[in-house]
Amino acid sequence: MRGTFLEIRPRALTDNARRARALANGARVFAMVKANGYGHGLGLAARAFANAVDGLGVAVIEEAQALRHLGLAHPVLVAEGFFDADELALASRLHAEVVVHSPWQVDLLAARPAPLGVWLKVNTGMNRLGMAPDLARAQAARLRAIPGVRLLGVMSHFACADAEDDTFTDHQLAIADTLAKELNVPLSAANSAALIRYPEARARRVRPGIMLYGSSPFPWRSAADLQLAVTQRFSARLIAINPIQAGDTVGYGATWRADAPGRIGVVAVGYGDGYPRHAPSGTPVAVNGQRTRLVGRVSMDMITVDLTGLDARVGDSVELWGDTVAVDEVAAACGTISYELFCQITGRPVRVIAE
Ligand SMILES: Cc1ncc(COP(=O)(O)O)c(C=O)c1O
Repeated sequence: MRGTFLEIRPRALTDNARRARALANGARVFAMVKANGYGHGLGLAARAFANAVDGLGVAVIEEAQALRHLGLAHPVLVAEGFFDADELALASRLHAEVVVHSPWQVDLLAARPAPLGVWLKVNTGMNRLGMAPDLARAQAARLRAIPGVRLLGVMSHFACADAEDDTFTDHQLAIADTLAKELNVPLSAANSAALIRYPEARARRVRPGIMLYGSSPFPWRSAADLQLAVTQRFSARLIAINPIQAGDTVGYGATWRADAPGRIGVVAVGYGDGYPRHAPSGTPVAVNGQRTRLVGRVSMDMITVDLTGLDARVGDSVELWGDTVAVDEVAAACGTISYELFCQITGRPVRVIAE
């Protein structure tokens, strides 16, 4: 057996959801499970969160449908709402709550009224999805006149809540809060970063994602420091160990050159498994609990690591991320975020569900 594993830890997912609930201070908690539970498995993540949260959040209707097929009857929020009239009808049948972010969605609803709970998305500065406050106000009036439609709340999304020098969140929150108060409905705005950092942004409903998966939303604070449990461990085996001489190069493009004699370990994982191809030499890995580094380019099925001076044998397990090497460290080395690393693991690593 190749021995390339993605170990998922349901208990850690549950612990992190409980942590989010404690921080939420009474706000309803909707756990984001979009994109296959941030790569952890939709059903597995949703079930792990089920008893610790009030509802689940997805991006698209198909994900809400998958949750219902799995037998989950929780309230489900669909963050991009419906794309057409068929999806509108489906959302209604699934008892999903949908986000309405554009007037064309209100037009569709007005033309095909259906029993549906709706969150009105207001653009407060992210300038992605959502209507400007005046437009949102006008659409709220239209929505309230459609038979069967219930305006559940105002929703917005923060652009900079995870940035060290953030001054934007206060501004966004003030706009969203004013509209929610005017319409006399609850506000939902906080992602993980805002939930942890801005008590005033918690409002009536929070939508944490990444913190539930054991990763820190903040580049300057570790997940361990935030008391988040590790929810996945990505590992693979050493399949060869080779001596190397000073001046030798390793891998495609000969991008890394040894400046002294040493040992190179070949590990059975590559971008075909979802290990990021753009991980540079120096990206941390751990061999038998000893931290070392990737050297040379990532191939489709293999990577090469520096074993010089380490205790390591063929067959030993190498941690790509998990307990010894935080996923956030790997993401930082690669110039990306843990979200992307989680989402891009392919179907090839063997999934192991921890006890
Ligand atoms: C609308 C919405 N709410 C909440 C979240 C959760 O954000 P995070 O994973 O940063 O906590 C996301 C994720 O991107 C989102 O798109």
